[in-house]
Amino acid sequence: MARHVVATVDQIPLDQRLLVQVNGREIGIFNVGGEYFAVGNRCPHEGASLCKGRIVGLVEATGPGDYQYSRRGELLRCPWHGWEFDLRTGRSWCEPDRTKVRSYDLKVEPGGALIEGELRAETFQVTIDKQYVVLEV
Ligand code: FES
Repeated sequence: MARHVVATVDQIPLDQRLLVQVNGREIGIFNVGGEYFAVGNRCPHEGASLCKGRIVGLVEATGPGDYQYSRRGELLRCPWHGWEFDLRTGRSWCEPDRTKVRSYDLKVEPGGALIEGELRAETFQVTIDKQYVVLEV
């Protein structure tokens, strides 16, 4: 898998998203309370631009009138027919064993770590002090 630096963290504010293109794929990067997740922008139901859907939480009820709201911002609702997907796993909330949107590994790394490697040419002092979002595809 190749690593791709797709953004700096300040390009994806808290509870916002950024749509990026990597190797011809559209991928949505989501900042959920300071954690970052990446999913493909194609809904497995009928192909809608899933990453343009609402970001919601989980509503559960133990009985009539007794509701709990949890997992704020961790579910993505498709804009076409409302299927919901867990941003942590890509799994459909209703059919977790059968339906899944593609999810990707993502890390936040300091700029200094991105220029390290085993093979080195002549180097010059460089200062990179931002945090970068790095996607593995
Ligand atoms: S296309 Fe996403 S729920 Fe139908």
